Amino acid sequence: MKYYITTPLYYVNAAPHIGHTYTTIAAETIARFKAMQGYEAVLFTGTDEHGQKVERSAQAAGKTPEDFTRIVAEEFQKQWESLGLRIDRTIRTTDPRHHKTVQWLFEQCLKNGYVYKGSYTGQYCVYDELYVNDAKPGDPCPECGRPTETVTEENYFFKLSAFTDRLLKLYEDDPGFVQPESRRNEVLSFIRQGLQDLSISRTTIKWGIPLPVEGNHVFYVWFDALIGYMSGVKDDPGMWPADLHLIGKEILRFHAVFWPAFLMAAGQPLPKKIFAHGWLLFENDKMSKSRGNMLRAEPIRRVVGVDGLRYFLLREIVFGQDGSFSYDALIGRYNSELANGLGNLASRTLTMIHQYRGGAIPASAGDEGIATVALTTIRNAVTLFDEFEFSRGLEAIWGMLSAVDRYIVQQTPWKLAKNPDAREALDKTLYTSAEALRIATALLAPVLPDSAGKIWSQLGMPEPVESVRLDALTWGQLQGGQKIGEIAAVFPRIELKDAVARMQGFEAEVSAHQAALLGKTAPAAGESPAPSDGKQGSSDSKIAIDDFSKVDLRVGLVLSAEPVKGADKLLHLKVDIGEPEPRTIVAGIAEAYHPGQMVGRKVVIVANLQPRKLRGLTSNGMIVAASLEGGKPVLAGFLEDVPVGARLK
Ligand code: MSP
Repeated sequence: MKYYITTPLYYVNAAPHIGHTYTTIAAETIARFKAMQGYEAVLFTGTDEHGQKVERSAQAAGKTPEDFTRIVAEEFQKQWESLGLRIDRTIRTTDPRHHKTVQWLFEQCLKNGYVYKGSYTGQYCVYDELYVNDAKPGDPCPECGRPTETVTEENYFFKLSAFTDRLLKLYEDDPGFVQPESRRNEVLSFIRQGLQDLSISRTTIKWGIPLPVEGNHVFYVWFDALIGYMSGVKDDPGMWPADLHLIGKEILRFHAVFWPAFLMAAGQPLPKKIFAHGWLLFENDKMSKSRGNMLRAEPIRRVVGVDGLRYFLLREIVFGQDGSFSYDALIGRYNSELANGLGNLASRTLTMIHQYRGGAIPASAGDEGIATVALTTIRNAVTLFDEFEFSRGLEAIWGMLSAVDRYIVQQTPWKLAKNPDAREALDKTLYTSAEALRIATALLAPVLPDSAGKIWSQLGMPEPVESVRLDALTWGQLQGGQKIGEIAAVFPRIELKDAVARMQGFEAEVSAHQAALLGKTAPAAGESPAPSDGKQGSSDSKIAIDDFSKVDLRVGLVLSAEPVKGADKLLHLKVDIGEPEPRTIVAGIAEAYHPGQMVGRKVVIVANLQPRKLRGLTSNGMIVAASLEGGKPVLAGFLEDVPVGARLK
């Protein structure tokens, strides 16, 4: 039986970071787990490449949208490869295969009477690509707080309002359709408020899939991206509907309301389940570019290996809830649970079999107590993984590992080995630990595929670990007489300080590489700022054009402004300069401008200054103003309208 699982199609306006990796790793673990339950598991992922945000990011990077999207999509693909993720199907939404599917689904909705043409004037958030109902000009977007823009368009509308009752019925009939339960309740209360029709075409944007109708309409990004789940398997008969859409909680509404309605309108089967997980935070803070706390997976992989990262993400965070990443916790768990826990049990068991039994697994029925623990663990871990409760599933397996450790200490095999009358007791001890290790390894294979494979072959197992069927896994399947393989440490211990320094070093390297890829002018690693000798900038010293071009001046739009506590002169600004996340800028202009004057204003930003800490805030850029002797600063601005992110040359 097939099991088709999807991740979101990731936006290409930013390079991959650990938040994307988190979802993809979890989805891949589920696919591996389902395969070991006997399903034909198919994992699908991809990139969402249309829309105004992408168009703007490409423009800011000085690239065509085609080049820009290809470069970032390749970066995602490279990441999946470097993490050894087993991905079966992918789609880029710029792929003509996908265009056809979107147009086909639209035509089904049109034919069935769920699409009509209308005119729309209202507030639109460019950042979230969202029309904001009941908003007035200048009102902030409810999702991101950025000011909305007023647009008037002739659009095609989807009759979402016709689906309120059908969606409520779906939720009643299938209480497991959206999980976890708290998310289901959120969606239900949203639907109960009544649904309004949804504009699904745009004429203000060029970078999108054209509607198969006259005029210059392109599809609204969500009536494009969601359909990617179908285009990815269009040539696989029987694959649709998806068994599971795994997503982050912030895109739940699109998946749990819009998507089933689109499918109902087109007369297509609905996905079986949507699971929305929580956010991965960095040291309890939301990760974001402007806070400078964005992490990538690659630097972590280089230090703790893919499995070190997979284990941490799935063990530390209760799947479904928000959770935090920290270097200390990562290395702490790696050393205590992987190196000292699993790794130590493996090397201890195998080394004893090598030393005391010439590398052949002794024949024995094993210890009854441990056999019972193992059987309970198999049952619990499989049930918990099946419910995506990875953390508790892993905890259950580690419970068994500790029981085996205690058992070995009680049996004192090193003493038994010296006693010729204790041959049978030693056989039993060695068999028990090896069999428990085999069972733990099989259960762990979906989470730790690389290390499980290694331990499996060190145990001398003839078939690959993936071929184990979890429903047939039981005590006593390890064959006496089996020769173990070559023993090698699977999780070498790591020194905290050194590991953190290495990860941070790699992080700087990888983020500079990504910035360069996206055409951002991040200062090269190790480049020091220009010396400030007081002469720079004085009117009599001339600089070459190359020196001027080192300064990255950008048009910025002030999204929010607030006073800084205890600093009369400072304002704390969030400024959109065409990057995926707004910049935090602390500016000494509070005596000249009050916060209300700043929001919505276009300003000039020096974008490549080294960040500075001011009153506990990290200012990432500088606002350009004329500074008048003894007077107040006057901000530089523009008389004509200029796009956000445009470079001043
Ligand atoms: N393109 C849309 C999705 C369209 S699906 C048809 C999109 N893309 S995204 O690049 O913003 O990716 C969002 C997804 O990435 C989240 O739903 C989540 O799966 C993952 N994450 C991104 N940052 C994350 C965290 N900080 N924490 C957890 N998951 C995160 O939305």
